[in-house]
Amino acid sequence: MSILSCFLVSWVFFVLGNLVNHVEGSAFFVFGDSLVDNGNNNFLATSARAEAPPYGIDYPSHRPTGRFSNGLNIPDIISERMGWEATMPYLSPQLNGQKLLVGANFASAGVGVLNDTGFQFVNIIRIYQQLNYFEEYQRKVSALIGEEETERLVNEALVLITLGGNDFVNNYYLVPYSARSRQFSLQNYVPFVISEYKKVLQRLHKLGARRVLVTGTGPLGCVPAELALHSRNGECAQELQRAASLYNPQLVQMLKKLNNDIGDDVFIAANTNQMHLDFINNPRQFGFTSSKRACCGQGPYNGIGLCTPLSNLCANRNLYVFWDPFHPSERANRLIVEQIFTGSNTYMDPMNLSTIVAMDSRV
Ligand SMILES: *[C@@H]1O[C@H](CO)[C@@H](O)[C@H](O)[C@H]1NC(C)=O
Ligand SMILES: *[C@@H]1O[C@H](CO)[C@@H](O)[C@H](O)[C@H]1NC(C)=O
Repeated sequence: MSILSCFLVSWVFFVLGNLVNHVEGSAFFVFGDSLVDNGNNNFLATSARAEAPPYGIDYPSHRPTGRFSNGLNIPDIISERMGWEATMPYLSPQLNGQKLLVGANFASAGVGVLNDTGFQFVNIIRIYQQLNYFEEYQRKVSALIGEEETERLVNEALVLITLGGNDFVNNYYLVPYSARSRQFSLQNYVPFVISEYKKVLQRLHKLGARRVLVTGTGPLGCVPAELALHSRNGECAQELQRAASLYNPQLVQMLKKLNNDIGDDVFIAANTNQMHLDFINNPRQFGFTSSKRACCGQGPYNGIGLCTPLSNLCANRNLYVFWDPFHPSERANRLIVEQIFTGSNTYMDPMNLSTIVAMDSRV
């Protein structure tokens, strides 16, 4: 009996604690690809997963969680800095009740802007499905706190969306003479992807998002996987670099135009390309010994294949920009998030996240 009441009391405190948390913070929603997936793909029958060690080796549990990182990823670190709980994968059966008020992570490794991107992974949550889940989420939360409060929660939330890299790496350049590369020159493919991305963002706005961080692609040709395939002396692969240098400025222009049409700074561009280039051009300045070699992998630059339990593994992950052949280390993610919060206009356009937080809390 006393054990039961003890349990009930702690349960009440737990629920109260969660409610208080909710009042103090706002919700966080995450959309996109493997750079921000917190584990959704582990609930799907797909090959695009980070479910085996050494993934997660530096995560608090020291176990793989589905994040494509040695530890935390960008959304985790944003939550940490905001003093929020980390968002859970939307497909997790544990994401229910009050936990829904923290937000949700809808991202899925392998997806792109285009529906045909990542087709080789079969069961992944394509971006339109992520948005459908966001609608379903809002219905669930409405049942919990009512429609009006749900709308407020969504309007006041922070949103992060990371897409686009796979439309090049896992589509246009996946194989020589890919369907998309026969259909479009690169010059014409980029505006096509951007115009499709615009539709995605318009739908996100329609679903209630009002503060949306949109990351560009990194320097696609400089990741260890591409160096292993295309680089003789460690120079970045030219074609993918050309793709990134066409795509990123056009993305910023598209976001400006969207904001103009809406009449508010809803979409904030994060120049992750420049953030990564800083590491690549001057790794030592940031405390990295290598910006070319992945910590985990095999072959030249540890860039061939995937990071698996049999791969080479570096001893100190903090010295590497890249954790695996495609994804940054937790330490690189931390530096990127630092720029998201405090970076100048070169990095964050039209403003950084500290400015947004200050503006929104004054209202
Ligand atoms: C992608 O799929 C969505 C929903 O299934 C559809 O609305 C959209 O038009 C498709 N995009 C393209 C370019 O086919
Ligand atoms: C970004 O944030 C810092 C505060 O951390 C601020 O001083 C700075 O001016 C901001 N930069 C821009 C361009 O908003």
